[in-house]
Amino acid sequence: MNIIVFTRNKIFGFFYKFIFKNIFFLFDAEEVHDFIIKFGKFLGSNSVTRFKTRLLFNFEDKRLEQNILGINFKNPVGLAAGFDKNGYLIDIMPNVGFGFMEIGSITGERCEGNKKPRLWRLKKSKALVVNYGLTNNGCEEISDRLKNKEFKIPLGVSIAKTNSKECADTIKGIKDYVKTTKKFSNIGDYFAINISCPNAFGGQPFHEKDKLNLLLNEIDKVKTKKPIFLKISCDLNFKEVDDIISISNKHKVNGFILTNLTKKRDNKNILDKNIPEKGGISGKVVEDLSNKMIEYVYKKTKGKYVIIGVGGISSAEDAYKKIRLGASLVQLITGMIYEGPQLISEINCGLVRLLKKDGFKNISEAVGADSK
Ligand SMILES: Cc1cc2nc3c(=O)[nH]c(=O)nc-3n(C[C@H](O)[C@H](O)[C@H](O)COP(=O)(O)O)c2cc1C
Repeated sequence: MNIIVFTRNKIFGFFYKFIFKNIFFLFDAEEVHDFIIKFGKFLGSNSVTRFKTRLLFNFEDKRLEQNILGINFKNPVGLAAGFDKNGYLIDIMPNVGFGFMEIGSITGERCEGNKKPRLWRLKKSKALVVNYGLTNNGCEEISDRLKNKEFKIPLGVSIAKTNSKECADTIKGIKDYVKTTKKFSNIGDYFAINISCPNAFGGQPFHEKDKLNLLLNEIDKVKTKKPIFLKISCDLNFKEVDDIISISNKHKVNGFILTNLTKKRDNKNILDKNIPEKGGISGKVVEDLSNKMIEYVYKKTKGKYVIIGVGGISSAEDAYKKIRLGASLVQLITGMIYEGPQLISEINCGLVRLLKKDGFKNISEAVGADSK
């Protein structure tokens, strides 16, 4: 069976790298993203296209299954927030092989985001510069559309505050987060509170401990059974991370998503010239920063918090590294854009191989193996 999946992935990967990607990369990155969303929506809309997609991309293995915080994950590879901002791909992503997906970030009000162009490829660096500024349809439209839907894989709902002058005010910003949290209190399986959007009005105020405390006080009051993750930036120093952990200890926080994009331009992994001034950078540029953060938080909290590792994953080895450093689950976007959608299955197949090599019977045994 695995040899069939291996060959299938190689063939699809070849077509993606030498044909589809070359065509996609001729066009503006956001236009391609919008096209993929429309195409994915179509593929998800009927059982025939869903089944065919599944044949092309699916892979399952018991060794990859975990129950985390009461949620069953078929495999540890998820779609990170920002790709499916409005929850249009919920019917198709399970068939692409993902073990879970995160929609959003969703804000209290509909948000046009920043001016275009606002998405660029850094081809040499295998990264993207992202300056969307939280474009999304707003919590009311999205929750109304999703409230009666059945989700085939665990669904994370990423929440941020509306990117506007008013919401830069702490109290209004908190109300905005709470509005979305309430709307989604019974939709999906976990919350990701995004306090690290690098492109929004007023910066990232909730990285600061007093403001984070105020925000979490209000989130604690929302009646929901769903676990809560905090998504933080890779640009924080360890003192700032310590503060975030100490505040999280006082609230209903179950885990961390490590990490969001980097704003810094002096990163040695930036290989391209003339990069846009605005925006956060993804992919290989954040990989080391994210890995350092995973290792630090895992060691510091001794596994008390569930870690979702994200940033620069483009192979099974990259994903396994994050898992061995302390991540129970991983997510990606940029790797899929550079390598193709068969990457998810390649990672899952590769993880099974790596687990076998290291003598682990289940993926959960590898979590934190290098940070003990
Ligand atoms: C196009 C794009 C949009 C993103 N939008 C969001 C977002 O709305 N909320 C969020 O928490 N992270 C967002 N991110 C960050 C990703 O979720 C992820 O943390 C980051 O891209 C690193 O993963 P990667 O290297 O696999 O892309 C976005 C990333 C990309 C590439």
